[in-house]
Amino acid sequence: MGKQEYCVTGGTGFIAAYLIKSLLQHGHTVRATVRDPGDEDKVGFLWELEGAKERLKLVKADLLVPESFDDAVRGVDGVFHTASPVLVPYDDNIQESLIDPCIKGTLNVLRSCSKSQTVKRVVLTSSCSSIRYRFDAQAASPLDESNWTDLDYCKRGLRGELPNTALGFVHIDDVVAAHVLAMEDTRASGRLVVSGSVAHWSEVIDMLRPKYPDYPYESKLSAQKGDSNPHSMDTSKIAQLGFPPFKTLEQMFDDCIISFQQKGLL
Ligand SMILES: NC(=O)c1ccc[n+]([C@@H]2O[C@H](COP(=O)([O-])OP(=O)(O)OC[C@H]3O[C@@H](n4cnc5c(N)ncnc54)[C@H](OP(=O)(O)O)[C@@H]3O)[C@@H](O)[C@H]2O)c1
Repeated sequence: MGKQEYCVTGGTGFIAAYLIKSLLQHGHTVRATVRDPGDEDKVGFLWELEGAKERLKLVKADLLVPESFDDAVRGVDGVFHTASPVLVPYDDNIQESLIDPCIKGTLNVLRSCSKSQTVKRVVLTSSCSSIRYRFDAQAASPLDESNWTDLDYCKRGLRGELPNTALGFVHIDDVVAAHVLAMEDTRASGRLVVSGSVAHWSEVIDMLRPKYPDYPYESKLSAQKGDSNPHSMDTSKIAQLGFPPFKTLEQMFDDCIISFQQKGLL
């Protein structure tokens, strides 16, 4: 694929930042949307990325402002839509703080894309949360692109210390590679499950504790019931597109810990 111009929404985000880094390294031009391009504390690190000074543009856009993304996507070849509220207060405001920005924001982005006349593909970053929270997760496993989370399941509203939750984990390198594949491989369409391994949080702690004994670990398991049900993810769709084997849970956490150590966070 030749050099393209891509828009990445939510440029200050975790997934977006790694994606922007990879796209710039591959010689593409990137328009990253942020809510405040002048906020150096939030966007400064993007300007340090290799190729940023030559090929990165920051464009102001907000998910909740209609037509906000028009300028950002006009003229680009493809759009990676990663902007979304993720960690929001767990209260009665979920509709306003999470659901509205996700749905209205995505529609805003898609409307801007359809107006642009240049956007050929849109890759929308979702989550295993859109698949995995089902009463019948175990029986329905391996969960594939045809499965959706159950709305009633999500309305139960429970939480605790060490989450009593089993969920899909995936290395950020695989996330970035999957986004690029979804954008550049014209055979890719619809939903794509991108999930390295499913594990319970207690398994993650059991894996880390002997390897990194000096760090403190949460050991009190939440009394929350229902999210620990074993399940598995069917990743054959992306494998059939030539995606290599996913990195292991151990690689994910080793690289995560190294990154935290390098940044002085651990
Ligand atoms: N990280 C994971 O482990 C993971 C796993 C599965 C799925 N995902 C999904 O991947 C997507 C991105 O996740 P992430 O971890 O990269 O999230 P993140 O680091 O929290 O980044 C979210 C981005 O969205 C932006 N944003 C939030 N509300 C906005 C609004 N109203 N208007 C414009 N921008 C807004 C944020 O901008 P500000 O900086 O201005 O707040 C930020 O740039 C989400 O849909 C998430 O559910 C993430």
